[in-house]
Order: sequence, then C-alpha cells, then structure tokens
Amino acid sequence: MAKTARSAVSSDIRPTQGDSSWFMNDRFGMFIHWGIYALPARHEWVKQYEQIPDADYDKYFRHFDPDLYNPELWAAAAAGAGMKYFVITTKHHDGFCLWDSKLTDYKSVNTPAGRDLIRPMVDAFRGKGLKAGFYHSLIDWHHPEFPIDDMHSMRGHADREKLNRPRRISRYADYLHGQVRELLSEYGKIDVLWLDFSYPSGKGGRAKSWVGKGHTDWQSEKLLKMVRGLQPHILVDDRLDLDEGWDFKTPEQFQVRGWVKVKGRRVVWEACQTFSGSWGYHRDEATWKSVELLLLMLVDSVAKGGNLLLNVGPTGRGEFDERALSRLAGMGEWMKRHSRSIYGCTQAPAGFKAPQDCRLTYNPEKKRLYVHVFAWPFVELHLDGFAGRVEYAQFLHDASEVKFHKRHDWQAALEGKDAGQPLTLSLPVTKPPVTVPVIELFLK
Ligand code: GLC
Repeated sequence: MAKTARSAVSSDIRPTQGDSSWFMNDRFGMFIHWGIYALPARHEWVKQYEQIPDADYDKYFRHFDPDLYNPELWAAAAAGAGMKYFVITTKHHDGFCLWDSKLTDYKSVNTPAGRDLIRPMVDAFRGKGLKAGFYHSLIDWHHPEFPIDDMHSMRGHADREKLNRPRRISRYADYLHGQVRELLSEYGKIDVLWLDFSYPSGKGGRAKSWVGKGHTDWQSEKLLKMVRGLQPHILVDDRLDLDEGWDFKTPEQFQVRGWVKVKGRRVVWEACQTFSGSWGYHRDEATWKSVELLLLMLVDSVAKGGNLLLNVGPTGRGEFDERALSRLAGMGEWMKRHSRSIYGCTQAPAGFKAPQDCRLTYNPEKKRLYVHVFAWPFVELHLDGFAGRVEYAQFLHDASEVKFHKRHDWQAALEGKDAGQPLTLSLPVTKPPVTVPVIELFLK
C-alpha cells in the first residue's frame, strides 16, 4: 500500500511505496560518511581526485584504527541535536566496507579496526530512538569486475582497455545485489536506503562520448524488487537511474526554491548538506557553516515541505571533531525549545504568505503556524492574509504572549491601497536571545 504523510497537504503529494509518514514527520536526520578516506582527510573522493592506484591507497586500509570509536557518543550527539534518523555509508565509492560482508575481504574486519563497525552503530542510534538508514555506493573503484569508466579513479591508466577486457559488470552487479541483500537481512528493520549514484553514458549534459554507468549496469529494476521484497516499508532514494520506483528526491548541496516537483507533482524530498563542503572528514576545509546558517537551512527545507539530512564526517580515530560537535550542540540548543516548529510540520497552506525575511512552517494536526524570523525587524511584523485567522500568538522559546492587531489606518494610509490589511504583531525592540526566533500562531 502506498503511504504518505498524514498532513493536510498530503493528498497532492506523489505517493511512495515505502513508509514516508514518519519521514515527513521527523524532518531532521544525520548523514555519516565514514571510511578509510578519513585518514587522508582531504575528501571522500580523494582516490578519484588524485587518481591514487590501489597499491598506494592500501596504506589507509592498513592504518585504519579507530581506537576512540564509541557510537554511543555519536548517537548522543545526533539525538542532542534533535535528529530523528541517521544514514551511514556502509560502503562508499572507494569500495571499502564498514561491516563484515561475506562477499569481500575489503572490509573493516581486516583493518586494525578488526570488527564490524556498523552493528554497534545501528544499536547505539536505535537505543537513542533514531531510525536507521544505509547509504550504499553503486560505484566501486576497488572491485576487480567494475569496468573502468570516465569517472573511475583509474580512468587515466595507460592500459585501461586491456584492464577492462576481463571485467564483467554483470558479475559486479551480482556482488552489489548480494551486499545489499546482506545489509537488508542482517541488521533488522532498516528505514531508509540511499543508493548512490548513476551517471549514464552520454547523458546529464555530458559529452556523447562520456562512458558512465546507469540502470542497466546496476540492474536497478531487479535490485529494487529485491529491496522491496526484503523490507517493504523501506524508503529508497532516487539515484538508481529509474523514472519510477523511487520514493524521495535528494537535492544535494543547494537549497531548493520551492517544494520539489516531478512532472508538476509535489514529491517527498530531503536536502542533503555538509557542514563544510566535504562529506568525509576533511582536516583543512575551512568553509564551515555557522549554527545560524545551518538552522536557516533546516527551517527553509521544512518550510518547503522537505527534510534535512546533515552530514558528519568522523575522524580516523572514530570521533566527531570539535567543529561538528559544537554545531550539533548549537542546533540542539535551539531545537530544545523550537522543535515544535519542525517535527510534524510542513509548508504553510496557500494563502498564508511568509512575511519579509521570514519562513513559515505549519502543523496541520494542531493548526498552528510558525513564523521564523531570519532578520529581526523594528517592533512590527506584518502578516498578509492572516487578519481574522489567528486566535493567539506567542514566542516559542518562552511562551510569552505576542500581541497583535489589525494594521493601524494612519499607518496604512501612508502605504497606499496595495498595502492590504495585514495582521500586525507587536515585537520587542531587541531580538530575543535565541538564534532564530519563532512566533507560534494558534489558528482559529
Ligand atoms: C555524491 C557524492 C558523495 C556523497 C553523496 C552524498 O553523489 O559522490 O561523495 O556521498 O553525494 O549525497
């Protein structure tokens, strides 16, 4: 049975095969990119960017020793930030696996880590009440049957043709399907599956001659069928190079301008974002977003009917670094008092226009609107289309009343006929001491 969120606006949302009701309620998740690329600490694509041969990249495999790994601390940091689900990279494009796969030796068990790192993570996050998701790379720059294409770390190899001759993508697809089967059979209920990603030959604005991979290489239809058979409720992302069959869209590293649509219809969607531009731990990356910007991005996503999946790249010793922890704590400080404007919320119904420098979210069950004030105005905030519709208003952080009135005639007279008849909130001169102030409107 197709399921969608219980929200008032859900009827016009493209139905999903997996269960999206919790997803559209919870809104905020943690992405985790972790693997042996944490050691070079200069992006999870380092093997590809620098075209590092297997023999050299192997040093990270031999030295991967996350002795400080304590997933209880990770789960506590995620829960403390207000995140409700997490998605961990079981394997990234470099092919390295974080669990004890029977189908490869290229796994954490055979590094100094010496163990399955996924199981204790899943247990720890579930223990804190978070739902579990797996990110699994379709791409594999280590597997010997994976034909070298134009995006491969060995794309520039002099013997590329010769090396490709014995490689069979169908044997790689068997491996891919086999690993996904393991992941969806051995760890209990998995709520989200993030398969990443497709780059079909000659498509997506690339040159006709571009050699990539897409749904025929992954055998996407067959893979999806197996996934749905193993875990019917699971939500699957949109990166399998299929027009149909996916559950949610995944805009990456940018904020969309409105509710994501496909063929004119609203879809379930989740923005994925980094703290600093790199997904894997990056020691020298300096463009870290502030707590304020991250909260604006979270609010902006929910105001457009979407989720935010915010990424942490743990270190090679197995910790979240200080920069990540301080941001998670800052977001948690805000969420402690404001999560009511995030959980269970979605885009405001048509007719309620967000005032200048604000974003609206709406809880359809409680019939409450939340005005997030991104830039603090001088003593008045004008809400067009709200007159006569609000019963009570208060700040969310301290439940202090916010008085409101119809715009004064003598003020409106100066603004001409087009100014409309807004509801005007009376605000204090100074911005309340919270990162993003929120006014909760109880609708009639
Ligand atoms: C991309 C990148 C990647 C990252 C992912 C997250 O497609 O290849 O490294 O894992 O998106 O969305």
